[in-house]
Amino acid sequence: MGKFKPYILVIFLSLIINLTPMMAQEIILIKTKNTTLALQVNTSNELSTIYFGASLDNDNEYGFIPPEYSQGTDYSGVYNATYTSSGSKNLLEPAIAVTHADGNTSLDLHYVSKTITSIGEGITQTDILLRDPVYPFEVHLFYVTYFENDIIEQWTTIKHSEKGEVILNKFSSANLYLKGSKEYWLNQYHGDWAQEMQSEETRLTHGIKVLDSKLGTRANLFQPPVFMVSLETPATENEGFVLFAGLEWSGNFRTDLELDPLNNLRIISGINNDASNYRLAKNVIFKTPKFWFTLSSQGKGFASRNLHNWATKYKILDGEGSRYTLLNNWESTYFDFDEAKLKDLIVDSRRLGVDLFLLDDGWFGNDYPRNNDDAALGDWDVNKKKLPNGIATLVETATNNNVGFGIWIEPEMVSPESNLYQKHPDWVIKQPDREEHYFRNQLVLDLSNPKVQDFVYGVVDDLFIENPDLAYIKWDCNAVIYNSYSKHLGANQSHLYIDYVNGLYKVLERVRAKYPKTPMMLCAGGGGRVDYAVLKYFTEFWPSDNTDPIERIFMQWEYSYFYPAIATVNHVTNWGKQPIKFKTDVAMMGKLGFDIVVEDLNEEDLEFCQNAIKNYSALSNSILHGALYRLQSPLKNDVASLIFVNKNGNEAVMFNYLVNNRYGSGSRNPIIIKGLDKDAHYLVEEINVYPNKEPVVISKAYSGDFLMKIGINPHVNLNNTSVVLKLTRI
Ligand code: DGJ
Repeated sequence: MGKFKPYILVIFLSLIINLTPMMAQEIILIKTKNTTLALQVNTSNELSTIYFGASLDNDNEYGFIPPEYSQGTDYSGVYNATYTSSGSKNLLEPAIAVTHADGNTSLDLHYVSKTITSIGEGITQTDILLRDPVYPFEVHLFYVTYFENDIIEQWTTIKHSEKGEVILNKFSSANLYLKGSKEYWLNQYHGDWAQEMQSEETRLTHGIKVLDSKLGTRANLFQPPVFMVSLETPATENEGFVLFAGLEWSGNFRTDLELDPLNNLRIISGINNDASNYRLAKNVIFKTPKFWFTLSSQGKGFASRNLHNWATKYKILDGEGSRYTLLNNWESTYFDFDEAKLKDLIVDSRRLGVDLFLLDDGWFGNDYPRNNDDAALGDWDVNKKKLPNGIATLVETATNNNVGFGIWIEPEMVSPESNLYQKHPDWVIKQPDREEHYFRNQLVLDLSNPKVQDFVYGVVDDLFIENPDLAYIKWDCNAVIYNSYSKHLGANQSHLYIDYVNGLYKVLERVRAKYPKTPMMLCAGGGGRVDYAVLKYFTEFWPSDNTDPIERIFMQWEYSYFYPAIATVNHVTNWGKQPIKFKTDVAMMGKLGFDIVVEDLNEEDLEFCQNAIKNYSALSNSILHGALYRLQSPLKNDVASLIFVNKNGNEAVMFNYLVNNRYGSGSRNPIIIKGLDKDAHYLVEEINVYPNKEPVVISKAYSGDFLMKIGINPHVNLNNTSVVLKLTRI
């Protein structure tokens, strides 16, 4: 007894060794209400993705998924690694590629452990540790599931303890697989100034399709980081299997969609590695941005409603709060204003009935006055000629008129004609020995430099210190990065695109730490800048300078798949020749504002706008917080139609717009409504009726059942180009 028996240890050890392969056959489930991502650890401790799709009824059956479904064959070289590394077994596009401190370029990541933590009600984080068996190099894969919203966020952290720096050549956030479909249909977006969110849908062929941006600042000007992939056939509003996804990163991004030889669709997304090799020092953690995705088996409408619910609850600043209606002076004055003119506009804001007056570009610069767009950015001192009594007197006038006061800034930028440029040329992103290139006559400040971060933060802080009643900020960003070079970064030039974005986030963190609530509009001359990382700091974004209402119907329609109405700023302006009613009705399907000369409105137009603003305020709970059902697309019909149904189903607002001006076009048939309670009865009334005109839709009560089977004809035609209906449960 008590005597050590070596043979027992041998038996015990051999048991452990024999058991290891069996124990290693672990399945990790990342689950939301309707979707499951199933990962498997194989006998060699490799982690692969065996399933991503609608959840199986029985969790124990994920183990039955046959290898031919979940993996390739040895000879094909295809292997569904959950985070594909370069230079070892994988032969397809990697999610991560590195050069080790000793120059070796191979990486193999093996499963080590996992931790599952509940981080909120219905929110679970899974942290999977992978490690290279040869090099001291590790990656954590993070998955956060928002169970009720069917959303998953995925990202990684990367660390090593090698003797020297490791170069990260590619460092994606996520690596997904879609499997089992004969066809994959990519719905992507492209654009330019005033042409944002142009949609294209194509069948993916074998090989790699890349969606990316290399613009630096307003990174999604040409291509936003959001997309959809339908399985088998393009999903419609209410039918089909479709993935919605996007990267939460406000800079260069890259998404590879590779249809591999075995018909897996491999989706790899992250920061764009172009010109951005990252030198990672020993024991420093490199964190990749989050990649969000949601899978719907009920078409695009269901996916977008899930996304909106998630975004308003977790991703957009004050996403469940209220929003100000406003009058902006950009198009009514451009740079040409003085104190008296602005005070008149503030009075006009009250007359119109909006909550706030927003002073746009042109209020700053003295040595180099901001009288057009070729000077003064960086010199944020109030222009004494235009505004001899400063901003304070405008804020006071606004307060006396019972409206808030907001102001425009573009703090990341510098004009070559400015004191800032002369004083701190080293703060400017530009090549030391090359000719300067300008985008809208301006250059970008180097936010990788902490001193520049202090300066940019100071622009905002000083405004608040001098004007404590400031109620709103419009944060613009009109230039992209040319001639990428940072004096501050020295030998680490390839860090600039990444450090710029992280520098921006640092500034915004500080702004929000001190001014947590003040609404801020994220503007970049249009939709050149919106994603779910930066919306943490902003209450809303400006989708496009193009405010022609016909164009806006199409653009807002596409944006609405990814961003909710409460975050999407729509202004009534002088763009387009349509009547003010049409313009206002279009702008009302999001966050409403005006950028018009109120004084030029005739009496009826003014009365119409005043009433529409009252209607909007009364209905904002439905429009800004309701569920959006797209009823009839502008792409295929004369009339575009959509409805917002409030959370308890008591009220809804249906917008109907004519998008085809040819003879005879209009809504000939009733439009079937969605999202109502079939057993309830609703009073349908037309609102936003132009003064002295009769409504075209007679007020009447219908059952939800009728409205969702037969529908209602909004009688939109060449005489009534837009009709807005209010539905109230009775
Ligand atoms: C671009 C914005 O999109 C416009 O609304 C306006 O603010 C101008 N910049 C001002 O320069």
